[in-house]
Amino acid sequence: MCGIVGYVGQREASEVLLEGLRRLEYRGYDSAGVSILNGTGLQLRKAVGRLANLERELAATPLHGHVGIGHTRWATHGAPSVRNSHPHLSYDGKLSIIHNGIIENYRELKNELLAQGVKFESDTDTEVVAHLVERAYQGDLLKALAEVLPRLRGAYALALLHQDEPGRVLATRLGSPLVLGVGENENFIASDVPALLKYTRRVVFPEEGQICEISREGVRIFSPDLKLLPAAIQTTELTLDAAEKEGFEHFMLKEIHEQPRAIAETLRGRLNEGAIDLTELALDPALINGLRRVAIIACGTSLYASMVGKYLMERFTHLPTETWSASEFRYADPVINAQTLVISVSQSGETADTLEAVKLAKASGATTISVCNVMGSSIARISAATLYTRAGPEIGVASTKAYVTQLAAFALLAVGLGRMLGTTSQQQEARIVDGLMHIPGQVKALLDKDIVAVKRCAKRYKDVFNFMYIGRHFNYPTAMEGALKLKEISYIHAEGYAGGEMKHGPLALVEGTFPTIAIAPQGGTREKLLSNVQEIRARSGVVVLVATEGDAEAAELADYLIEIPACAEELSPILAIVPLQLLAYYTATQLGRDVDKPRNLAKSVTVE
Ligand code: M6R
Repeated sequence: MCGIVGYVGQREASEVLLEGLRRLEYRGYDSAGVSILNGTGLQLRKAVGRLANLERELAATPLHGHVGIGHTRWATHGAPSVRNSHPHLSYDGKLSIIHNGIIENYRELKNELLAQGVKFESDTDTEVVAHLVERAYQGDLLKALAEVLPRLRGAYALALLHQDEPGRVLATRLGSPLVLGVGENENFIASDVPALLKYTRRVVFPEEGQICEISREGVRIFSPDLKLLPAAIQTTELTLDAAEKEGFEHFMLKEIHEQPRAIAETLRGRLNEGAIDLTELALDPALINGLRRVAIIACGTSLYASMVGKYLMERFTHLPTETWSASEFRYADPVINAQTLVISVSQSGETADTLEAVKLAKASGATTISVCNVMGSSIARISAATLYTRAGPEIGVASTKAYVTQLAAFALLAVGLGRMLGTTSQQQEARIVDGLMHIPGQVKALLDKDIVAVKRCAKRYKDVFNFMYIGRHFNYPTAMEGALKLKEISYIHAEGYAGGEMKHGPLALVEGTFPTIAIAPQGGTREKLLSNVQEIRARSGVVVLVATEGDAEAAELADYLIEIPACAEELSPILAIVPLQLLAYYTATQLGRDVDKPRNLAKSVTVE
């Protein structure tokens, strides 16, 4: 949801900003813009659409200067247009600002400014902040910003530049991500670490409400009341290579192929001689034994991983477990107390609804554990403990490696907690540990064999309007996630359903050209799902069947057969999703879609 970058140093700022925006374009791609400060004051360039349009603009009319801010937008307030693109200027043109997030009380603030005669150039919520800060400005941008911030409601990461203070860029965050990059005689700000990696791996993650200043001399952090605070500099493990496509046509395909390594990373150091080792979470056994319920909160793909997580938690911990869409949790009346374990799941660790839901859970006295990919992210920081999935940067908007690593993390968590609670036997644990150890190799084997049925199916059905995905129990969420993958990158309508529900309505859709993807690996519900397949075939429907290698009955029923290796049924969602990711990918590429940046979406949803 919008990417922001800022630079102060000796290089051409526009080049540094464009490099940063390239790495952040996954956050939004409705428009982009930069503002550079030089001897002639603040200069702006903006362009609607992809970053390439801004690059062309800057190539045609370059901007020179060593201080600047840049933005890539996912539109919230106001249509994608040049006038609504960031940066925005204050009424006197002296201050420029970029913003990721939403200022919820902007109407009230706008009315106040309008009454004072301020003219607005855009429809955005951001512009009010530019005018408010400039009105408060009396020669010190830091003071003016600190004075205005208490008046803003909502979520934001802001960066500002003032013509009268050419040596510094200020930034602040509340509920939106922000990272500072520390260099030699140059310093940076960004929404996410990959934007900095070409220049530095030394980073600072400011806390909510803090105000940051970057100048050539260094990085300074202030409390909201402007007390100077120590800057905790750390060195990120991320590398630039990890943020590149490495020869793959799309990030999504690269990330699908990274899954064996990503899962191995999730498991690294957490499987110990047939047992699961969760000591890093420092869980208090008394607290765990006092738990009565589990609530899992997430959005999108992470929510589907949570649905598998629910089944795992119930099987191994015997604790009643519910799964919540974070955006629903916040506005329902969830029964959460000190005996509830709230597990939040988020690749980015920044999803606004999930973050707010965790805050609510904490306020209700729950124990909070997060399953996150991004180190130091907001959700990880506010949770009592975090199980990092260690999938590496996921750039493609469609989540792939984050999902399978979340599934692996849930297997660790559920069995590990089950052992602590005495509800999982040593044999059960050993069976899952053994299964997990084989999973990276099995995913690799799946990716290494050219799954012909997937490509054939993508070619044959790319032009249909609807797809159905069905599964049961552990693979009901696989159906949901498979359908989400297809719709988000190919724009074909797809629905994920519990197989047993077909005859309660959706079966009416089935006819000769209607494809159903049925997920029926070995396990407790395989037979039942094959019965559902029979019902579809009896109505001339087309069935693409995901089944365990060597399942002759499934092979007979399938119009297209996709085989996955045999594994523990609890782990089968990790294998079953892989061909469905590829099906979505090949369908979308056949249709010429922008796979890594599907329309209307952004990678990190930091607005509610
Ligand atoms: O970063 P998060 O895991 O919290 O993100 C949640 C969803 O926005 C995300 O999974 C989204 O649904 C993906 N585009 C799905 O591929």
